Amino acid sequence: MNLKEQINRDSLPRHIAMIMDGNGRWAQKKGGERLFGHRNGVESVRQVVEAAGELGVEFLTLYAFSTENWKRPRTEIDGLMTLLTSTIANETRKLNENNVRLLVIGNLADLPKSVQKHLMNSVNFLSGNTGLTLVLALSYSGRWEITEAVKRMCQDARSGKLDPDSIDACLVESYLATSFMPDPELLIRTSGERRISNFLLWQLAYTELYFTPVLWPDYRKEHFYEAIIDYQRRERRFGKVDEKRAITLNN
Ligand code: IPE
Ligand code: IPE
Ligand code: MG
Repeated sequence: MNLKEQINRDSLPRHIAMIMDGNGRWAQKKGGERLFGHRNGVESVRQVVEAAGELGVEFLTLYAFSTENWKRPRTEIDGLMTLLTSTIANETRKLNENNVRLLVIGNLADLPKSVQKHLMNSVNFLSGNTGLTLVLALSYSGRWEITEAVKRMCQDARSGKLDPDSIDACLVESYLATSFMPDPELLIRTSGERRISNFLLWQLAYTELYFTPVLWPDYRKEHFYEAIIDYQRRERRFGKVDEKRAITLNN
């Protein structure tokens, strides 16, 4: 049985988040510039977007550029921004054919104006689609997002719109950039690094983590299927006890 057929369609994650990592090391292995790696990562994005859409995953969040990535050399940042613009321009038609809706989270005001414009055009163009929602995290970090949420909550409390006594986890969530979607059930990180790197800090509280040594430009649909199959074998407990197991242990 091929990998895709091994996936149980009745227990698919609704939301998968991905840290696309390893472009630089991939390029280095090939003797190329870091940007060569980033360029080759575009095909991997196509693959996971297509695979997620075909399977019926509802939300796919891709960490494309972190708040901390602004500390990289200027040439790499400029190259990434140019690549982002050209990729959006080239891929929007195909995304539309695949019924993909596009959304962006992050401090978009930090991005060059031309990137903002291309992104907004594409988001608007795809806004009526009803298949996969592709969420790009750009100039995003979990701490940035939580800080922004706290700031807006304080402003609303000051203006009387928010009663501080009413603040609970649900309300905090409603102030996050991701309030329109469920928390990810599965996080995949490529390139062998085992850390979160300031991605969805609040939302990952009970997410299953999957790390693979595959470098992002080598990532293909089969790798994505493998991660989902692995996820489907896990038992998620959310702090509770598994009742069947507890009974066996007591007897
Ligand atoms: C991920 O690949 C892409 C971005 C962070 C933009 P890297 O550029 O981090 O590649 P490595 O980790 O240096 O190999
Ligand atoms: C995380 O990768 C950010 C993105 C994939 C956009 P990094 O390569 O920036 O993370 P660190 O520096 O290895 O933690
Ligand atoms: Mg990296």
